[in-house]
Amino acid sequence: MSWKYLCEVSDVETNSVKLIDVDGVSVLVANYGGGFRAMPPICPHMEEPLAESGVIANCILTCTKHLWAWDLRNLSMIGETERDLKTYEVKQEGDKVLALIDGELTYDFDEEGDDDDDFFK
Ligand code: FES
Repeated sequence: MSWKYLCEVSDVETNSVKLIDVDGVSVLVANYGGGFRAMPPICPHMEEPLAESGVIANCILTCTKHLWAWDLRNLSMIGETERDLKTYEVKQEGDKVLALIDGELTYDFDEEGDDDDDFFK
């Protein structure tokens, strides 16, 4: 495991996200006001790209596609959200944002999307 440079603190405005390539791994950096989070660039619901559908307000990241949402302060799920948001550990060193990246974090998606029925598997 090693800490990788993501960006400067000033590169990601408060309440916004930025897509960054880190040695071939696509990482979405979110500035929620109280700090930064780094995560895979897709929604764990139906693979919606969060760089486009992710909105941050009051420290809550919401995927506008179907309104799944997570509190970026503690990563708790909000409302109807059914899956945790995966994140890379993040730290700030001066003006730099770093993430602990050891391979790419991914989600498993059923062929049926969010179908919970595992009966035939
Ligand atoms: S794809 Fe993000 S909430 Fe459904």
